[in-house]
Amino acid sequence: MNVLVIGGGGREHALAWRLAQDPEVKAITAAPGSDGMCPPAARAAVDAADVDALVRLAVDGRFDLVVVGPEAPLVAGLADRLAAAGVAVAGPGAAAARLEGSKIFAKDFMARHGIPTARYEVHDQAATARRSLEAGRFEFPVVIKADGLAAGKGVVIAADLSAAQAALAEMMERRCFGAAGDRVVVEEFLQGEEASCMALTDGEHVVPLPPAQDHKRVFDDDRGPNTGGMGAYSDDRILPPGLADAILDAVIRPTVRGMAAEGHPFRGVLYAGLMLTAAGPRVLEFNVRFGDPETQAVLPRLRGSLAETLHLLAEGRLDHARLDTDPWPAVCVVLASGGYPGEYAKGRPIHGLELAGQHPHVTVFHAGTRREGERFVTAGGRVLGVTARGADLDAAVMRAYEAASQVHFDGMHYRRDIALKGLRRYR
Ligand code: AMP
Ligand code: GLY
Repeated sequence: MNVLVIGGGGREHALAWRLAQDPEVKAITAAPGSDGMCPPAARAAVDAADVDALVRLAVDGRFDLVVVGPEAPLVAGLADRLAAAGVAVAGPGAAAARLEGSKIFAKDFMARHGIPTARYEVHDQAATARRSLEAGRFEFPVVIKADGLAAGKGVVIAADLSAAQAALAEMMERRCFGAAGDRVVVEEFLQGEEASCMALTDGEHVVPLPPAQDHKRVFDDDRGPNTGGMGAYSDDRILPPGLADAILDAVIRPTVRGMAAEGHPFRGVLYAGLMLTAAGPRVLEFNVRFGDPETQAVLPRLRGSLAETLHLLAEGRLDHARLDTDPWPAVCVVLASGGYPGEYAKGRPIHGLELAGQHPHVTVFHAGTRREGERFVTAGGRVLGVTARGADLDAAVMRAYEAASQVHFDGMHYRRDIALKGLRRYR
């Protein structure tokens, strides 16, 4: 198989790394890819947002399978275009990608199909949203979400009415997310631990992937601003006994059935971001692609051929898939640039990469680096994802932090408590 991976972050490096282990895979190209994922991948200088150029690349390069990392090209219809051109693609078409592309679509879809989620209202006027809050229809804190894609920044948890009003004004009046904020979801704040549940589906059959937990805030103990994800771990115990099946039955399968029944079957990676509340799991968001950094912790645990599985998905034959999960947990610690998620410098030399990646159960995924002669330098906010597996979660955590401590660049910072909630709970 000749595989094309779209994207160039840590998630895509993990995809290329994992696909390269499959016996069917002869070559991997990444568009635009990154220096750090070569090898195993080769790079094509095509932007992940340029749908026309990606379709040309996939057709001219005679790729047997296209795996799409980021959501934007999916929402823009890349998978429809590839399928029309006869290229096998693991990713949903634009109509199905609305599960991530429009929070209003996702909420209304869940309401239509009885999928558990936070109570909500949709508003297209800041004034009506304000009146609803003033009338006490929601308690504080309340959650305000821009409808469209906002690069992970479209969710505000407002502590009181004035914070809510500020968020509504930002989104709907000052239009800081452009058209993505013209309509908003106002929803009830949920309490509990979060879990990321991903499943592969061809629109009918479902192959669940092992659960993961992301760490979105920049500082330890979930403090500071939100980021793209400061680390993740995957351990089957993230979901207490019985809960994995309950989530499949209450969330994943009804979503797959509902999308098919509404005429746009979902083919790809269905990601449910869940809050595990006292009253049961509730969907916080759907994503229509592999999570990042979750993928960096989940893929090292998969046994069997991911390439073959994704190809079966594209063909609508996922019932033939054989993919197993290794019981060993995995932990991914993100090493970030000083200042991230705010302003940060680029071009800082990275030391210790080779040493960090030496251990057989450690892999260092590149999220934002660039090769400069013989060395790598920083080129993004999230720079590296140091991932380790271990016989148990303690071993995996220790190994990941040991490896992380080998790496150094000016301004580097990372959370010291990745997987700590799990470690405490399982003890
Ligand atoms: P989203 O992009 O919808 O996942 O939101 C980003 C983050 O905001 C989530 O990972 C949660 O930490 C938080 N969040 C979103 N919706 C809610 C909610 N209804 N209650 C509490 N936290 C939420
Ligand atoms: N880790 C959350 C996401 O991929 O959107």
